Amino acid sequence: MTPLAIATRDLTRRFGDFTAVDRVSLAVEAGTVMGLLGPNGAGKTTLIRLLLGLLTPTAGEGQVLGHDLVREPEAIRRKCGYMSQRFSLYGDLTVAENLTFFGQVYGLTGPALAERREELLAWAGLGDLRHTPAGQLPGGLRQRLAFACAILHRPALLFLDEPTAGVDPVSRRRFWDRIYSLADQGTTVLVTTHYLEEAEYCDRVGILLSGRLVATGTPADLRREYGEGGGLDRVFLNLAQGRGERVPGSGE
Ligand SMILES: Nc1ncnc2c1ncn2[C@@H]1O[C@H](COP(=O)(O)OP(=O)(O)O)[C@@H](O)[C@H]1O
Ligand SMILES: [Mg+2]
Repeated sequence: MTPLAIATRDLTRRFGDFTAVDRVSLAVEAGTVMGLLGPNGAGKTTLIRLLLGLLTPTAGEGQVLGHDLVREPEAIRRKCGYMSQRFSLYGDLTVAENLTFFGQVYGLTGPALAERREELLAWAGLGDLRHTPAGQLPGGLRQRLAFACAILHRPALLFLDEPTAGVDPVSRRRFWDRIYSLADQGTTVLVTTHYLEEAEYCDRVGILLSGRLVATGTPADLRREYGEGGGLDRVFLNLAQGRGERVPGSGE
């Protein structure tokens, strides 16, 4: 059996009376690209923050890379990469300086850091821009740099929170190629999106509506089960309408 990179049972997080993540039981096998699809406010970011041990669950439990969310958050964070929804880059530092900074945070130093930085500059196609302040990069390149910073320490599990939001379709496609090159090397990826077409690129997809994980499976499984002969857009509409939900894109 493939080991599980993520395993939760009834994971729940409330803010006051409001339940942002509601009894989520999720299993993600190592080496998988798992997409989490849901409209704004569905609870995607809250779920990631729970999985990284940045937020304490109100109820339920979970393990990430074999570590308990509540008892071993530091071990989890050391082994995971996180590209947050709001990029955490330093705008006044150059491209190369950002990589150096994030490498040092994860304990890389000297030649090992320099080597890894060069490797990622080439991988991200940012070599010629190494001396450009990150704040001056256009959106698509900034996002590539944030991605490179999140994988500097070769995390076993990578969380990408809406990494392609606001990026043009061509850059989005290339970004997915990079996600796949990483997955081919054995990294597990959990990526959130509200672009329905991106869910098609994932090995498995979970659909999150109002904090509830209402369906999981391969894109083909989901189409078969909920799609009535249509694509994932149809799957999503059926699941959302069945729950009286607003459909993504209709009110943003
Ligand atoms: N710290 C917080 N305090 C109160 N409500 C929050 C907090 N964080 C998130 N929420 C609420 O939880 C819901 C889910 O938010 P979020 O996880 O950011 O959704 P998504 O990432 O899918 O857009 C939203 O209604 C949001 O307002
Ligand atoms: Mg979010």
